[in-house]
Amino acid sequence: MRVGLLTGGGDVPGLNAAIRAVVKRGEGEYGHSIIGFRNGWRGVVDGDIVPLTRNHIRNVLPSGGTLLGTARYHPHASNGGMDGVLATLEAERIEALICIGGDGTLHAASKVAEAGVKIVAIPKTIDNDVWGTDRSIGFETAVGIATEAIDRVHTTAESHNRVMIVEVMGRSAGWIAVTAGIAGGAEVVLAPEEPFDIDKVIKFLKHRHRAHANFSIVVVAEGAVPAEGTSMSYEAPVGQFGEIVAGAITARVKAEIEERTGFDTRVTVLGHVQRGGSPVPADRILGSRFGVAAIDALARGESNVMTALRGEEVVLVPLPEIAGKVKRVPSELLRVARALA
Ligand code: F6P
Repeated sequence: MRVGLLTGGGDVPGLNAAIRAVVKRGEGEYGHSIIGFRNGWRGVVDGDIVPLTRNHIRNVLPSGGTLLGTARYHPHASNGGMDGVLATLEAERIEALICIGGDGTLHAASKVAEAGVKIVAIPKTIDNDVWGTDRSIGFETAVGIATEAIDRVHTTAESHNRVMIVEVMGRSAGWIAVTAGIAGGAEVVLAPEEPFDIDKVIKFLKHRHRAHANFSIVVVAEGAVPAEGTSMSYEAPVGQFGEIVAGAITARVKAEIEERTGFDTRVTVLGHVQRGGSPVPADRILGSRFGVAAIDALARGESNVMTALRGEEVVLVPLPEIAGKVKRVPSELLRVARALA
């Protein structure tokens, strides 16, 4: 069988583990030819291919990024995109496609599947917000990086009697903010799931600094917003492609805290540091499991599905079921972050 493989959307650590597993299992167990497409869906439209064999995946487990390259390009939303995809798949005699991506790439995958292409998707995003799976590739590494950053900021916050704000990624869900906030012992965590009241944040910080501490750590997800009707008005700026502007919400929160408490306040925007470098073992293992599961699913004749982690097991979820949904942080986890402030 000729199986196409692509990675789309933002890169994450652990993608190469998934690519390696697809190639090893596909070639070794089933004798498939694995055809990689460079730069996500863009490469499919352009016919930009790279045949993948065992030689291409040697020593890639510890490496970050994606050896196939990636892009934020969605064929169903681009002129001639879908026709381009179908033409390339036919020209290259691709019988099935494995797409590794987050919400944008997987949405495109379900559109291409609707056009009759056999697709198995694999979820990846450091945001961990793909619906239907407990974990997406890349999340655990990002949480580790964010936690280490919070730990480091802690000691300097204490030495200087400062409020330190750490902004982490998370456009629609605050998985990194909440979990790294708990792991790093943040005093305040602001996540998109619970629009915040800046008055309460200020009151809390003033009380804490009066009563028992001379410093505080505030973790802010980039997608956090103030609650409607509260004293901080904020219109989130958007970038050229409608993306979130890194540092914007945090700059506002800093200004409010400094002005209203008088506390010396500093900001760290972690940005793409969270997406770079070597994957932790959990992401290497998850990428490997998803890669094997995707190839095995095709061998069983299954398609239009996504590999997913549910508890201890890897299962398959129908692709149409996940479209348009966001997996948000459950209230229990949000409560823990608050309870330990
Ligand atoms: O989709 C994952 C993500 O890491 C978001 O959390 C973040 O807003 C975005 O990617 C940044 O994208 P880019 O790499 O295009 O700047």
